[in-house]
Amino acid sequence: ITILFLIVVVIVVVIVVDLVPRAENVTWSSLNFKTILTWDPTPTDYTYTVHFAEYVHTHTPTHTHTQCQHGLQGNVVLTYSADIKSEHDVTDDDDDVDDVEFPHTYSPKFNPYRESQISAVSFKIQAAENGMVTLNISDLITSVRSRQSGKLLTIREVFNKDLKYKIIYHKAGSTGKRENISDYSIAKLSNLDAGDSYCFKVAAFIPSRAKALQLGAWSQEVCSEAERHILHELSVGALVGLLFILLIVISIIVIVTILCCRRC
Ligand SMILES: *[C@@H]1O[C@H](CO)[C@@H](O)[C@H](O)[C@H]1NC(C)=O
Ligand SMILES: *[C@@H]1O[C@H](CO)[C@@H](O)[C@H](O)[C@H]1NC(C)=O
Repeated sequence: ITILFLIVVVIVVVIVVDLVPRAENVTWSSLNFKTILTWDPTPTDYTYTVHFAEYVHTHTPTHTHTQCQHGLQGNVVLTYSADIKSEHDVTDDDDDVDDVEFPHTYSPKFNPYRESQISAVSFKIQAAENGMVTLNISDLITSVRSRQSGKLLTIREVFNKDLKYKIIYHKAGSTGKRENISDYSIAKLSNLDAGDSYCFKVAAFIPSRAKALQLGAWSQEVCSEAERHILHELSVGALVGLLFILLIVISIIVIVTILCCRRC
């Protein structure tokens, strides 16, 4: 009878465990260091427990969504991995079930410093003169909080010297593209044709990363103003006046020439 009872318990346990699905499609996504771990399926009457390399986070059944999110406070250079365990809701008198190995899934490894995507930056043209253009690029704010001040850090503060900006530009109305890489958020471009309008696009660029992950999203295109020619600056009235003066001068020259010729 005892043996029979044990077999029944084992069968019940197996059924319970079988009812709990294993986490699938475990993926990391990270934008500007805001990192989210997602998986399927949505839990019904069970919970997921996620063990991170750094801390533990439990999902109760009331959290029907299947994602974890955290700011990875100041530890962006670390590699993270997660172990997602599906656990059936266990009541206190169900001691046997406690010892059961529930299905679990390991996430891929993730390193925000090397893998977090960087969104498009914004910038403005600060100066354009004598064939030289200065761009002022705004460093994005990340989701990383400074341990000292509690403030959110910029991508410059996170990456320091590892952060460059890639700039592609072309003369307005022409297709020939040029490229330059700036170490600083204030980027200077020289050897441009003075007076012409140029259009620029900027993206964060981290050459220390693997090739496919180096480039952030491209910014919107911003064009410099072409230096206007003198004639464009003059009003219609001024132009008429100028023509009138020209006419008088020419008339005088003609009259003087005619008079001189007659004397000859
Ligand atoms: C760049 O622009 C920001 C405002 O967008 C300004 O505060 C900063 O002083 C500018 N940098 C330089 C070097 O002019
Ligand atoms: C980028 O600009 C700097 C300074 O204007 C210049 O010295 C350098 O040759 C440029 N690099 C490329 C790849 O055009």
